[in-house]
Amino acid sequence: MTRFRKITAAAAVFGLATAAGLTVLSTVAGAHGDVTPQAVDISGLEPLGEEWREENPYAGHAKAIEVGASAYNQNCARCHGLEVISGGIAPDLRYLPQGPEGDEWFAMRVRNGVVRNGMTYMPDFDEVLSQEALWAIRAYIESRYDG
Ligand code: HEC
Repeated sequence: MTRFRKITAAAAVFGLATAAGLTVLSTVAGAHGDVTPQAVDISGLEPLGEEWREENPYAGHAKAIEVGASAYNQNCARCHGLEVISGGIAPDLRYLPQGPEGDEWFAMRVRNGVVRNGMTYMPDFDEVLSQEALWAIRAYIESRYDG
């Protein structure tokens, strides 16, 4: 957890230092239509319904990890890095805590995005990806854990 806090703090400092750079990045990404939902095939995953789960119902689930890998690469990799190895634009998600603690932080971020001082550092995915797709992504990220 200590290491995770440090990384988050580093990301915040990084965010301030490169605010201008990130604005350009999101404008450019927007021009390529990055808010267009990327279809995620969730067949084979247990449907979760409307109500948001607090913990990942697919943790360690092989099919979810497979679906999540593809969904991650389509929706998150351009900022968080291919195979969850960050190139420095956004935090390295391999350090997100495992289990419920990481689930909670993950859900808060993907459902709300990150907007500070009117700038979008990360878009929100609540309306874009289904709960199934988001927890599948979380299962994939957790399978890459490196804390
Ligand atoms: C446009 C770039 C961008 C995209 C696309 C993006 N993110 Fe992010 N994400 C960021 C940035 C930048 C931060 C750090 C925000 C901050 O300053 O706190 C972040 C933070 C996070 C965090 C919190 C990490 C931490 O250490 O606090 C999680 C979890 C996360 N993103 C998951 C995702 C997932 C899952 C996807 C795909 C569904 C995604 N992000 C897509 C840019 C992006």
